[in-house]
Amino acid sequence: MKTIGVAVFGAGYWGPNLIRNFHALPEANVVAVCDLDKTRLSHVQTLYPSIKTTTQSGDVFSDPTVHAVAIATPLATHFPLAKKALIADKHVLLEKPFTRTVREAEELIMLSEKKHLVLFAGHTYVYNTAIQKIKKVLSQKKLGKVYYYESMRANLGLIQHDANVIWDLAPHDFSILNYIFPTKPLAIRVLSSRFVHSRQEEVAHVFVRYENNLFAHMYLSWLSPLKIRMTMLAGSKKMLVFDQQNPVEQIRLYDKGVMVTKDKNNSLRSSYRYGDVIVPALDDTEALSTELRHFLSCIREKQKPLTGGKEGLEIVKLLEAADRSLKSGKEILLR
Ligand SMILES: NC(=O)c1ccc[n+]([C@@H]2O[C@H](COP(=O)([O-])OP(=O)(O)OC[C@H]3O[C@@H](n4cnc5c(N)ncnc54)[C@H](O)[C@@H]3O)[C@@H](O)[C@H]2O)c1
Repeated sequence: MKTIGVAVFGAGYWGPNLIRNFHALPEANVVAVCDLDKTRLSHVQTLYPSIKTTTQSGDVFSDPTVHAVAIATPLATHFPLAKKALIADKHVLLEKPFTRTVREAEELIMLSEKKHLVLFAGHTYVYNTAIQKIKKVLSQKKLGKVYYYESMRANLGLIQHDANVIWDLAPHDFSILNYIFPTKPLAIRVLSSRFVHSRQEEVAHVFVRYENNLFAHMYLSWLSPLKIRMTMLAGSKKMLVFDQQNPVEQIRLYDKGVMVTKDKNNSLRSSYRYGDVIVPALDDTEALSTELRHFLSCIREKQKPLTGGKEGLEIVKLLEAADRSLKSGKEILLR
Protein backbone atom coordinates (compact mmCIF):
# COMPACT_ATOMS: atom_id res chain seq x y z
CA MET A 1 0.00 0.00 0.00
CA LYS A 2 1.80 3.16 -1.19
CA THR A 3 -0.56 5.93 -0.25
CA ILE A 4 -3.47 5.22 2.04
CA GLY A 5 -6.90 6.18 0.71
CA VAL A 6 -8.79 8.06 3.41
CA ALA A 7 -12.40 9.21 3.77
CA VAL A 8 -13.60 11.66 6.40
CA PHE A 9 -17.10 11.51 7.92
CA GLY A 10 -18.34 14.87 9.18
CA ALA A 11 -17.33 18.22 7.74
CA GLY A 12 -18.66 20.42 10.55
CA TYR A 13 -16.21 22.15 12.90
CA TRP A 14 -13.57 19.43 13.43
CA GLY A 15 -13.81 17.40 10.20
CA PRO A 16 -12.18 20.15 8.06
CA ASN A 17 -9.11 20.00 10.35
CA LEU A 18 -8.83 16.28 9.63
CA ILE A 19 -9.28 16.88 5.88
CA ARG A 20 -6.67 19.68 5.86
CA ASN A 21 -4.09 17.64 7.76
CA PHE A 22 -4.63 14.40 5.81
CA HIS A 23 -4.49 16.40 2.57
CA ALA A 24 -1.08 17.82 3.57
CA LEU A 25 0.41 14.37 4.26
CA PRO A 26 2.06 12.69 1.26
CA GLU A 27 1.31 9.23 2.68
CA ALA A 28 -2.47 9.88 2.53
CA ASN A 29 -4.87 10.47 -0.32
CA VAL A 30 -8.18 12.00 0.75
CA VAL A 31 -10.61 10.19 -1.53
CA ALA A 32 -13.97 11.22 -0.13
CA VAL A 33 -15.84 13.26 2.45
CA CYS A 34 -19.29 12.26 3.68
CA ASP A 35 -21.67 14.61 5.47
CA LEU A 36 -25.47 14.67 5.66
CA ASP A 37 -25.41 18.43 5.16
CA LYS A 38 -24.91 19.46 1.51
CA THR A 39 -23.80 22.97 2.41
CA ARG A 40 -20.86 21.51 4.35
CA LEU A 41 -20.00 19.35 1.35
CA SER A 42 -20.03 22.27 -1.07
CA HIS A 43 -17.64 24.10 1.30
CA VAL A 44 -15.27 21.09 1.06
CA GLN A 45 -15.70 21.00 -2.74
CA THR A 46 -14.68 24.65 -3.01
CA LEU A 47 -11.49 24.06 -1.03
CA TYR A 48 -10.61 20.63 -2.48
CA PRO A 49 -12.20 20.11 -5.92
CA SER A 50 -10.50 16.71 -6.35
CA ILE A 51 -12.18 15.16 -3.28
CA LYS A 52 -15.43 13.27 -3.91
CA THR A 53 -18.28 14.33 -1.64
CA THR A 54 -21.36 12.36 -0.72
CA THR A 55 -24.28 12.27 1.70
CA GLN A 56 -24.42 8.45 1.43
CA SER A 57 -22.17 6.51 3.83
CA GLY A 58 -22.63 3.42 1.63
CA ASP A 59 -20.68 5.17 -1.19
CA VAL A 60 -17.66 5.32 1.12
CA PHE A 61 -17.96 1.80 2.53
CA SER A 62 -18.23 0.24 -0.94
CA ASP A 63 -15.30 2.24 -2.37
CA PRO A 64 -12.23 -0.07 -2.67
CA THR A 65 -9.88 2.95 -2.91
CA VAL A 66 -10.84 3.95 0.66
CA HIS A 67 -8.62 2.03 3.08
CA ALA A 68 -9.30 4.07 6.21
CA VAL A 69 -12.00 6.38 7.56
CA ALA A 70 -11.85 9.17 10.12
CA ILE A 71 -15.15 9.84 11.91
CA ALA A 72 -15.85 13.36 13.19
CA THR A 73 -19.63 13.27 13.49
CA PRO A 74 -21.86 13.70 16.58
CA LEU A 75 -21.34 11.15 19.38
CA ALA A 76 -24.53 9.14 18.72
CA THR A 77 -23.29 8.26 15.23
CA HIS A 78 -19.76 7.18 16.29
CA PHE A 79 -20.57 3.53 17.01
CA PRO A 80 -22.86 2.77 14.04
CA LEU A 81 -20.49 4.42 11.55
CA ALA A 82 -17.36 2.82 13.03
CA LYS A 83 -18.99 -0.62 13.13
CA LYS A 84 -20.08 -0.39 9.48
CA ALA A 85 -16.61 0.79 8.49
CA LEU A 86 -14.90 -2.14 10.24
CA ILE A 87 -17.37 -4.59 8.65
CA ALA A 88 -16.44 -3.03 5.28
CA ASP A 89 -12.72 -3.72 6.08
CA LYS A 90 -11.72 -0.08 6.65
CA HIS A 91 -9.27 1.04 9.35
CA VAL A 92 -10.99 3.51 11.70
CA LEU A 93 -10.00 6.72 13.46
CA LEU A 94 -12.84 7.61 15.80
CA GLU A 95 -13.02 11.04 17.38
CA LYS A 96 -13.41 11.61 21.09
CA PRO A 97 -15.60 10.79 22.97
CA PHE A 98 -14.96 7.34 21.53
CA THR A 99 -18.42 5.81 22.03
CA ARG A 100 -21.55 6.40 24.11
CA THR A 101 -21.07 3.25 26.20
CA VAL A 102 -18.37 0.84 27.37
CA ARG A 103 -20.24 -1.97 25.63
CA GLU A 104 -20.04 -0.16 22.27
CA ALA A 105 -16.29 0.43 22.69
CA GLU A 106 -15.74 -3.24 23.60
CA GLU A 107 -17.66 -4.39 20.53
CA LEU A 108 -15.55 -2.18 18.22
CA ILE A 109 -12.32 -3.45 19.82
CA MET A 110 -13.41 -7.08 19.33
CA LEU A 111 -14.38 -6.46 15.72
CA SER A 112 -11.16 -4.62 14.87
CA GLU A 113 -9.04 -7.37 16.46
CA LYS A 114 -10.96 -10.10 14.62
CA LYS A 115 -10.45 -8.28 11.30
CA HIS A 116 -6.83 -7.15 12.01
CA LEU A 117 -7.78 -3.53 11.41
CA VAL A 118 -6.47 -0.44 13.18
CA LEU A 119 -8.97 1.13 15.58
CA PHE A 120 -7.69 4.51 16.69
CA ALA A 121 -9.04 6.98 19.27
CA GLY A 122 -8.76 10.67 18.31
CA HIS A 123 -7.13 11.77 21.58
CA THR A 124 -5.34 14.70 19.99
CA TYR A 125 -3.79 16.07 23.20
CA VAL A 126 -1.60 12.98 23.57
CA TYR A 127 0.17 14.14 20.37
CA ASN A 128 0.53 17.75 21.56
CA THR A 129 4.19 18.68 22.04
CA ALA A 130 3.37 20.52 25.29
CA ILE A 131 1.72 17.42 26.76
CA GLN A 132 4.66 15.29 25.63
CA LYS A 133 6.97 17.77 27.36
CA ILE A 134 4.87 17.57 30.55
CA LYS A 135 5.14 13.76 30.48
CA LYS A 136 8.91 14.07 30.16
CA VAL A 137 9.16 16.63 32.99
CA LEU A 138 7.15 14.27 35.23
CA SER A 139 9.17 11.20 34.32
CA GLN A 140 12.39 13.13 35.10
CA LYS A 141 10.79 13.94 38.51
CA LYS A 142 11.45 17.65 37.97
CA LEU A 143 8.28 18.60 39.88
CA GLY A 144 9.20 16.40 42.85
CA LYS A 145 6.19 14.81 44.50
CA VAL A 146 3.17 15.83 42.39
CA TYR A 147 0.36 17.31 44.51
CA TYR A 148 -2.37 18.02 41.98
CA TYR A 149 -3.41 18.50 38.33
CA GLU A 150 -5.81 21.37 37.76
CA SER A 151 -7.39 22.10 34.41
CA MET A 152 -9.70 24.83 33.13
CA ARG A 153 -11.50 24.41 29.80
CA ALA A 154 -14.00 27.15 29.37
CA ASN A 155 -15.54 29.12 26.56
CA LEU A 156 -18.93 30.26 25.29
CA GLY A 157 -20.72 27.50 23.30
CA LEU A 158 -20.50 25.05 21.33
CA ILE A 159 -23.42 23.43 23.13
CA GLN A 160 -23.85 19.87 21.82
CA HIS A 161 -27.16 18.12 21.62
CA ASP A 162 -26.10 14.55 22.33
CA ALA A 163 -23.35 15.17 24.89
CA ASN A 164 -22.99 17.28 28.02
CA VAL A 165 -19.95 19.43 28.81
CA ILE A 166 -18.26 16.49 30.58
CA TRP A 167 -18.57 14.15 27.58
CA ASP A 168 -17.41 16.98 25.32
CA LEU A 169 -14.42 18.35 27.22
CA ALA A 170 -13.35 15.86 29.92
CA PRO A 171 -12.03 13.31 27.34
CA HIS A 172 -9.19 15.78 26.71
CA ASP A 173 -8.12 15.79 30.37
CA PHE A 174 -8.85 12.10 30.93
CA SER A 175 -6.64 11.17 27.98
CA ILE A 176 -3.90 13.53 29.20
CA LEU A 177 -4.10 12.10 32.74
CA ASN A 178 -3.97 8.49 31.53
CA TYR A 179 -0.97 9.40 29.39
CA ILE A 180 1.10 11.43 31.87
CA PHE A 181 0.42 9.54 35.11
CA PRO A 182 1.57 5.95 35.39
CA THR A 183 -1.09 5.07 37.98
CA LYS A 184 -4.79 4.54 37.34
CA PRO A 185 -7.40 6.75 39.02
CA LEU A 186 -9.14 5.45 42.15
CA ALA A 187 -12.37 7.45 42.24
CA ILE A 188 -14.33 10.18 40.47
CA ARG A 189 -16.81 12.79 41.67
CA VAL A 190 -18.80 15.34 39.67
CA LEU A 191 -20.58 18.57 40.54
CA SER A 192 -22.47 20.04 37.61
CA SER A 193 -25.40 22.20 36.54
CA ARG A 194 -27.68 23.00 33.63
CA PHE A 195 -28.70 26.59 33.04
CA VAL A 196 -29.66 27.15 29.41
CA HIS A 197 -30.08 23.66 28.02
CA SER A 198 -32.91 21.52 29.36
CA ARG A 199 -31.00 18.23 29.15
CA GLN A 200 -27.25 18.82 28.97
CA GLU A 201 -25.04 20.10 31.81
CA GLU A 202 -23.09 23.14 30.64
CA VAL A 203 -20.83 23.69 33.66
CA ALA A 204 -19.06 20.97 35.63
CA HIS A 205 -16.36 20.33 38.18
CA VAL A 206 -14.84 16.87 37.91
CA PHE A 207 -12.58 15.52 40.67
CA VAL A 208 -10.43 12.44 40.11
CA ARG A 209 -8.59 10.86 43.03
CA TYR A 210 -5.32 8.92 42.77
CA GLU A 211 -3.04 7.09 45.17
CA ASN A 212 -0.67 9.09 47.43
CA ASN A 213 -3.10 11.97 47.93
CA LEU A 214 -2.72 13.09 44.28
CA PHE A 215 -5.87 14.49 42.73
CA ALA A 216 -7.00 16.06 39.47
CA HIS A 217 -9.67 18.73 39.19
CA MET A 218 -11.26 19.90 35.96
CA TYR A 219 -13.41 22.98 35.57
CA LEU A 220 -15.36 22.54 32.34
CA SER A 221 -17.71 25.17 30.99
CA TRP A 222 -19.66 26.09 27.87
CA LEU A 223 -20.89 29.24 29.65
CA SER A 224 -17.78 31.31 30.14
CA PRO A 225 -17.20 34.80 28.71
CA LEU A 226 -13.50 33.93 28.38
CA LYS A 227 -11.83 31.20 26.41
CA ILE A 228 -9.53 29.45 28.88
CA ARG A 229 -7.40 26.40 28.19
CA MET A 230 -5.08 26.16 31.14
CA THR A 231 -3.54 23.28 33.05
CA MET A 232 -1.47 23.50 36.23
CA LEU A 233 0.55 20.87 37.99
CA ALA A 234 1.95 21.59 41.43
CA GLY A 235 4.74 19.56 42.95
CA SER A 236 7.05 19.70 45.95
CA LYS A 237 10.00 20.98 43.85
CA LYS A 238 8.43 22.95 40.98
CA MET A 239 5.11 24.02 39.53
CA LEU A 240 4.12 23.91 35.88
CA VAL A 241 1.57 25.93 33.92
CA PHE A 242 0.42 24.98 30.40
CA ASP A 243 -1.49 27.86 28.82
CA GLN A 244 -2.71 26.91 25.38
CA GLN A 245 -3.93 30.45 24.71
CA ASN A 246 -0.38 31.78 25.00
CA PRO A 247 1.12 31.38 21.53
CA VAL A 248 4.72 32.00 22.60
CA GLU A 249 5.18 30.60 26.08
CA GLN A 250 2.84 27.62 26.31
CA ILE A 251 4.65 25.96 29.20
CA ARG A 252 6.22 27.72 32.18
CA LEU A 253 8.08 25.87 34.86
CA TYR A 254 8.12 27.80 38.15
CA ASP A 255 10.69 27.19 40.84
CA LYS A 256 8.15 28.16 43.47
CA GLY A 257 6.93 26.43 46.57
CA VAL A 258 6.12 26.61 50.21
CA MET A 259 7.64 24.70 53.11
CA VAL A 260 6.27 24.44 56.60
CA THR A 261 8.77 24.05 59.41
CA LYS A 262 8.67 24.24 63.21
CA ASP A 263 10.60 26.95 65.07
CA LYS A 264 12.24 26.43 68.45
CA ASN A 265 8.93 27.14 70.23
CA ASN A 266 7.31 24.38 68.16
CA SER A 267 5.17 26.93 66.24
CA LEU A 268 4.60 26.30 62.54
CA ARG A 269 6.37 28.66 60.12
CA SER A 270 5.90 28.85 56.37
CA SER A 271 8.82 29.68 54.12
CA TYR A 272 8.27 30.54 50.49
CA ARG A 273 10.57 29.87 47.55
CA TYR A 274 10.49 32.25 44.59
CA GLY A 275 13.03 30.99 42.05
CA ASP A 276 13.50 31.14 38.30
CA VAL A 277 10.82 30.64 35.69
CA ILE A 278 11.87 28.42 32.80
CA VAL A 279 10.11 28.44 29.45
CA PRO A 280 10.98 25.23 27.60
CA ALA A 281 11.18 25.46 23.81
CA LEU A 282 8.49 23.42 22.06
CA ASP A 283 8.35 22.09 18.54
CA ASP A 284 5.36 23.78 16.88
CA THR A 285 4.17 20.78 14.84
CA GLU A 286 0.37 20.65 14.89
CA ALA A 287 -0.75 17.85 17.22
CA LEU A 288 -3.37 16.64 14.73
CA SER A 289 -0.73 16.22 12.04
CA THR A 290 1.40 14.06 14.37
CA GLU A 291 -1.71 12.09 15.33
CA LEU A 292 -2.70 11.41 11.71
CA ARG A 293 0.85 10.45 10.71
CA HIS A 294 0.87 7.96 13.59
CA PHE A 295 -2.53 6.58 12.48
CA LEU A 296 -1.22 6.06 8.94
CA SER A 297 2.01 4.48 10.13
CA CYS A 298 0.04 2.09 12.41
CA ILE A 299 -1.87 0.97 9.30
CA ARG A 300 1.26 0.60 7.17
CA GLU A 301 3.55 -0.93 9.79
CA LYS A 302 0.79 -2.90 11.58
CA GLN A 303 1.76 -1.12 14.83
CA LYS A 304 -0.28 -0.79 18.02
CA PRO A 305 -1.51 2.83 18.29
CA LEU A 306 -0.54 5.02 21.23
CA THR A 307 -4.25 5.86 21.43
CA GLY A 308 -6.04 2.75 20.23
CA GLY A 309 -9.41 1.21 21.01
CA LYS A 310 -8.31 0.21 24.54
CA GLU A 311 -7.30 3.81 25.37
CA GLY A 312 -10.66 4.97 23.92
CA LEU A 313 -12.45 2.43 26.13
CA GLU A 314 -10.61 3.64 29.28
CA ILE A 315 -11.94 7.16 28.69
CA VAL A 316 -15.50 5.92 28.13
CA LYS A 317 -15.26 4.02 31.45
CA LEU A 318 -14.37 7.29 33.20
CA LEU A 319 -17.20 9.12 31.41
CA GLU A 320 -19.73 6.46 32.44
CA ALA A 321 -18.46 6.72 36.04
CA ALA A 322 -18.80 10.53 35.81
CA ASP A 323 -22.42 10.03 34.72
CA ARG A 324 -23.06 7.78 37.72
CA SER A 325 -21.59 10.41 40.04
CA LEU A 326 -23.63 13.15 38.37
CA LYS A 327 -26.86 11.19 38.92
CA SER A 328 -26.13 9.97 42.46
CA GLY A 329 -24.22 12.99 43.76
CA LYS A 330 -21.69 10.52 45.18
CA GLU A 331 -18.05 9.69 44.62
CA ILE A 332 -17.73 6.62 42.38
CA LEU A 333 -14.97 4.11 43.10
CA LEU A 334 -13.25 2.99 39.93
CA ARG A 335 -11.75 -0.29 41.09
N1 LIG B 1 -9.98 15.77 18.79
C1 LIG B 1 -10.40 16.97 19.10
O1 LIG B 1 -9.67 17.77 19.66
C2 LIG B 1 -11.80 17.38 18.73
C3 LIG B 1 -12.14 18.74 18.68
C4 LIG B 1 -13.46 19.07 18.35
C5 LIG B 1 -14.39 18.08 18.10
N2 LIG B 1 -14.02 16.77 18.18
C6 LIG B 1 -15.03 15.70 17.96
O2 LIG B 1 -15.37 15.66 16.58
C7 LIG B 1 -16.74 15.24 16.45
C8 LIG B 1 -17.49 16.29 15.62
O3 LIG B 1 -17.50 17.50 16.34
P1 LIG B 1 -17.81 18.89 15.60
O4 LIG B 1 -17.60 19.93 16.64
O5 LIG B 1 -17.13 18.94 14.31
O6 LIG B 1 -19.39 18.73 15.35
P2 LIG B 1 -20.26 19.51 14.24
O7 LIG B 1 -21.66 19.39 14.69
O8 LIG B 1 -19.68 20.85 13.96
O9 LIG B 1 -20.05 18.63 12.92
C9 LIG B 1 -20.56 17.33 12.78
C10 LIG B 1 -20.86 17.12 11.30
O10 LIG B 1 -21.26 15.75 11.14
C11 LIG B 1 -22.31 15.71 10.20
N3 LIG B 1 -23.04 14.45 10.38
C12 LIG B 1 -23.99 14.14 11.33
N4 LIG B 1 -24.36 12.85 11.21
C13 LIG B 1 -23.67 12.34 10.16
C14 LIG B 1 -23.64 11.06 9.54
N5 LIG B 1 -24.39 10.04 9.99
N6 LIG B 1 -22.83 10.88 8.47
C15 LIG B 1 -22.05 11.90 7.99
N7 LIG B 1 -22.04 13.14 8.55
C16 LIG B 1 -22.84 13.35 9.62
C17 LIG B 1 -23.12 16.96 10.47
O11 LIG B 1 -23.91 17.33 9.36
C18 LIG B 1 -22.01 17.97 10.77
O12 LIG B 1 -21.61 18.68 9.62
C19 LIG B 1 -17.28 15.09 17.87
O13 LIG B 1 -17.20 13.75 18.24
C20 LIG B 1 -16.33 15.94 18.70
O14 LIG B 1 -16.25 15.55 20.04
C21 LIG B 1 -12.76 16.41 18.46
